[in-house]
Amino acid sequence: MDTRDVVAELASDGWSGPFEVENCRRAVAALEAGLVVSLPRLRFELGPAETGFLTDQALDQSRKNISFDAATGRCHGSGYEGERLAALTAMLERFGRLAEALVRGLLPGYAAALERGRTSFRPAEIAGRTSTPRHDDKRLHVDAFPTRPMRGKRIFRLFSNVAPDGVLRQWRVGEPFADFAAQFLPRLRPMPPGQAWAMQLLGLTRGRRSHYDHLMLGLHDTAKLDAAYQANAPRVALAFPPDTTWMCFTDAVLHAALAGRCALEQTFYLPVAAMAEPEKSPLRVLERLSGRALV
Ligand SMILES: [Fe+2]
Repeated sequence: MDTRDVVAELASDGWSGPFEVENCRRAVAALEAGLVVSLPRLRFELGPAETGFLTDQALDQSRKNISFDAATGRCHGSGYEGERLAALTAMLERFGRLAEALVRGLLPGYAAALERGRTSFRPAEIAGRTSTPRHDDKRLHVDAFPTRPMRGKRIFRLFSNVAPDGVLRQWRVGEPFADFAAQFLPRLRPMPPGQAWAMQLLGLTRGRRSHYDHLMLGLHDTAKLDAAYQANAPRVALAFPPDTTWMCFTDAVLHAALAGRCALEQTFYLPVAAMAEPEKSPLRVLERLSGRALV
């Protein structure tokens, strides 16, 4: 594997369209094939006061991310108050708005069904951070949420490196999802009968966990806990410099974030039916491998 197997670069430098049709076509094909689409010339511009937020001092002591919910207009995870909190919230709101404009413009086939999730600001340095293996995003994994069942829906994320001093955001990207899933799926146990119902009833999940969610969580955990896989699996190292923007389906791209600080991120959700090639979704791949419907 080399960089060309995992990244497609686009030369676009604007957050809103119109985008060249050829760029749109290339972007959707690359994303659905499980590549990262990188826009090395697309920077998120910060105002003079906002550069003061590029420090882990912006965090509430116990958190590693600050998140913004467009539905409520509120930020969580910051220790700031009053005017400073309002200004930080405005920065995240603006990033989320630009990210949404970019995704809708560059991927017009997704626009009607696209759902915008949380915006996050990740000011703290990743390298040297300690966490349990299951929570350690320095290990290769695909994204899956324990409390928010996706029921097949895609997780799509857009990132910008806004580090003030040249600090690279360093990632690793692993093998194609279908190859990864074929190795790990035989090791996963089926979901125990009644578990999804009980978890929903107890308020442990928002909605009913599907077999798909159970398998995706199993893939996430089993890969992170497999030391041999983490040491030996195929991977390509990527480094995103400041003023770079990149995006991918993080439920299919095996990824690990190794180092870096001060990234902004916007999450989106997309129904499988809105994809140009739904058969490339993790849902359809897992259904083919397991020979059954999973939602
Ligand atoms: Fe992740």
